[in-house]
Amino acid sequence: MPEYLISDPGPERAFLVGAQERSSRPLLSLEDSLDELALLAETAGMEVVGRATQILSSIDPATYIGSGKVEEIREALIATGAQVVIFDDELSPRHQRELEKRFGEDIKLLDRSALILDIFAQHARTREGALQVELAQYEYRLPRLTRQWTHLARQAGGAAGRGGTGGVGLRGPGETQLEVDRRDIRRRISRLRKELEHVREHRARHRAQRERSGVPLVALVGYTNAGKSTLLRALTDTDVYIADQLFATLDPTTRRIELPGGRNVLLTDTVGFIQKLPTTLIAAFRATLEEITEADLLLHVVDITHPNVLQHIETVEDTLAEIEMPATPRILALNKIDLLPDDAELPQIELGPHYVAQVRISAEQGTGLETLGETIDRALAASLYRVKLLLPYERGDLLSYLYENASVEDSTSTDEGVLLKVQLPAALYERFKDYRVAR
Ligand code: GTP
Repeated sequence: MPEYLISDPGPERAFLVGAQERSSRPLLSLEDSLDELALLAETAGMEVVGRATQILSSIDPATYIGSGKVEEIREALIATGAQVVIFDDELSPRHQRELEKRFGEDIKLLDRSALILDIFAQHARTREGALQVELAQYEYRLPRLTRQWTHLARQAGGAAGRGGTGGVGLRGPGETQLEVDRRDIRRRISRLRKELEHVREHRARHRAQRERSGVPLVALVGYTNAGKSTLLRALTDTDVYIADQLFATLDPTTRRIELPGGRNVLLTDTVGFIQKLPTTLIAAFRATLEEITEADLLLHVVDITHPNVLQHIETVEDTLAEIEMPATPRILALNKIDLLPDDAELPQIELGPHYVAQVRISAEQGTGLETLGETIDRALAASLYRVKLLLPYERGDLLSYLYENASVEDSTSTDEGVLLKVQLPAALYERFKDYRVAR
C-alpha cells in the first residue's frame, strides 16, 4: 500500500486500573496514584480514556482485581475504544496471563513497571542508559513471556534495541516457540551484561580523573518533574534538555560551576525518582545511581507547589536508602515558588538530621539562586572529604595524628608507605592534600 494511504491511528487509547487492599497503608491515595499513572501514560504518548478503581479485602491470586470488576472493565474498554489497559501496580506473571485471557487478544496489558520501562527506553540517550533499560526490560519480561514477545522485540531498549544484541533464534527439535524465545532472551541478557561492563569500565576511568581533580561533587536528586534539569541549566547556563514530562532526564549530566565564593563544583543531574519504581530498573540503574552515593553534597529539589510534596520527599529518601546512600549532607531546594502567592504558607516539612538547610527558589525565574549557591558553599566547607592518602613510613607522627583527628576507614601497607582511606574535614584536607593518591 502506498504510504500516503495509511491514516494516522492517533495516540493509543489507555484505560487505567488501580486497586488497593483494605488493610494496606499506601503512600499515595488511590486517586492520586492514578493521577500520576495518567501522567506517565501521557508521557509515553498515550491518551487516557477512562479509569477504574477497587478496594479489595485481598488481591485475587488469578485476576488481581475481582472477576466482576474485570468484566466491568472489559465492557468499559469496548465503550471507550481503549486499546491498552494499564494497572497501577506490578502484576505477577500469573495475573498477566489470566488478565490477557479475559481482556482478549486485541488488548495490550501493561502495568506501571512496564510503562516506566517503556518511557525510560524512549528517553535513554547515552549508550549506557539504553543498555541498562534494555536489560531491565528483558529481565522484567522473561518470567512474563506469553504472546507479548513480539511487542517486546519491537519496543525493547529504544536505541540499544538496534544494537544487534541477537536475532530471533530457530526452534530446535522438541522445543516450543516459548522455549526458543526464553533462550533468546537469556542470551540477549548475558550479551547486554557484557556490553554494560565495557561501558562501565570506560566511565570508571572518567570518574578516576574527576577524583584526582579533587573538585567536590554535588548531586541533584528529586522526584520526577521537580525541576532538577531546569535548575542545572539555570546554574550553568547550558542547554540541558527540559520537558514537562516525567523522566525527561535519564542519563547523568555533569557540569562544572563556580559558586559565589569562587569555589568550583561539579553538579550532576540524574534520573528522577517516583513511587513504585520497578525493582528491575533500580537494579539495572544501580551503577549509575551509585555515583550519587559518592557525592559530597546532595541537592534535593522538590516541587513545593505539588499537593503530594511530603510523599515525594519520602519516596526520594526511600530510594536513596535503597541504593545505600551514606549520611551525605543534604540541602532541600523548595522549587517553583513563583507559582505561589507571596504570603502562601508552605507545608511544614520535617527533615532528617542530614539536612543542613532549606532554600526557596524558582529555577525557572532564577529567584533564590544566589542564596542557594552560598548555602552550597557553606555546606561543602563544613562537610567531610573522603580521600586516599599515601603516608611514607617515616611519617608515623602524621599517621597517629590522623588516627586521632580523622576517621580512618581503611589502611593497607604498601612498598611506598601506608595507604589510607580517610574522611577529612575541610581544614585537614588542605593540610594533607599533598599526600593524596588516586588509586
Ligand atoms: P525529570 O527529568 O522527570 O527528572 O524532571 P526534572 O526534575 O529534571 O524537571 P524539569 O527541570 O524537566 O522540569 C519539569 C517541569 O517543571 C518543566 O515544565 C519546567 O519548565 C517546570 N519548572 C521547573 N522549575 C520551575 C520553576 O521554578 N517554576 C515553574 N513555574 N516551573 C518550573
